[in-house]
Amino acid sequence: MATKFKNIVITGASSGIGEALTEYYAQKGAENIFICGRNVERLEKVADISRKYKCNIYSKIIDVTDSEQLKSWIEEANQIAPLNLVVANAGVATLEETPENIYNTFNINVLGVLHTILPALDIFKKRENKKACAIAIMSSIAGYHGLAACPSYSASKACVKAYGEALRASLRGSSIQVNVICPGFVKSRITDKNTCPMPFFMSAEKAAQIIGSRIERNVGLIAFPWQMRLATWAVSILPNWISNYIYSKLPHKV
Ligand SMILES: NC(=O)c1ccc[n+]([C@@H]2O[C@H](COP(=O)([O-])OP(=O)(O)OC[C@H]3O[C@@H](n4cnc5c(N)ncnc54)[C@H](OP(=O)(O)O)[C@@H]3O)[C@@H](O)[C@H]2O)c1
Repeated sequence: MATKFKNIVITGASSGIGEALTEYYAQKGAENIFICGRNVERLEKVADISRKYKCNIYSKIIDVTDSEQLKSWIEEANQIAPLNLVVANAGVATLEETPENIYNTFNINVLGVLHTILPALDIFKKRENKKACAIAIMSSIAGYHGLAACPSYSASKACVKAYGEALRASLRGSSIQVNVICPGFVKSRITDKNTCPMPFFMSAEKAAQIIGSRIERNVGLIAFPWQMRLATWAVSILPNWISNYIYSKLPHKV
């Protein structure tokens, strides 16, 4: 089935889930997709997807920590084609918790998300016909609990998860939909660095299909695979000292 979202922004689309989402929407009949990332070669390769489909893909090198540049880019995109879906996907995971990496993780995974969604919200709020206006925020299953193995990553994902959930509730009735995405282990440049076991590992294409179809149905919290979601829930109902113990034993991962 074709997507109702015709004009889409996706940050962090030069690889992994962002790349797969770009192809998913191009395939599903999106007309204009605006993508950004920092790596020219990889981003251009993703933009080439437009050759396969009847879809314009506009690529731009932007660091999501640059709020002014990101705001101008989103506003320009909206001038070219009135946006109806903005996916704040760009993110990093750090293996070493050095002060520099910790700040970088929060800057990209938290402030980068705000720099993306605030200009989009401004545009959507001013629009009279808000039909098919959506904001999707990339969190993670790792955002369900602070993880000793990756404190800054799990905390950054918990932060955007809580913010997205609150935003969805506060915009209820406004016709602007907000979706929070919490994937488990997905093949990407982030998980390529992982050496630990990754249960229920899935391809980025499969993840994009799940994400795309659930945004279409306006599912508030898009958490998958269900086995990981179930395990997270089961641990959350245990006494705190037991759940903390279990989490402290998990291997290092995003
Ligand atoms: N893979 C998983 O298992 C998994 C699970 C849960 C959540 N996630 C989340 O999914 C999102 C996508 O990650 P991925 O797994 O697909 O990894 P990935 O292949 O490394 O993709 C990350 C994307 O973010 C971009 N990016 C990173 N920092 C950026 C910055 N400062 N400015 C602009 N773009 C930036 C990267 O582009 P450049 O390198 O070109 O800058 C790349 O396109 C992330 O938010 C990640 O936390 C992933």
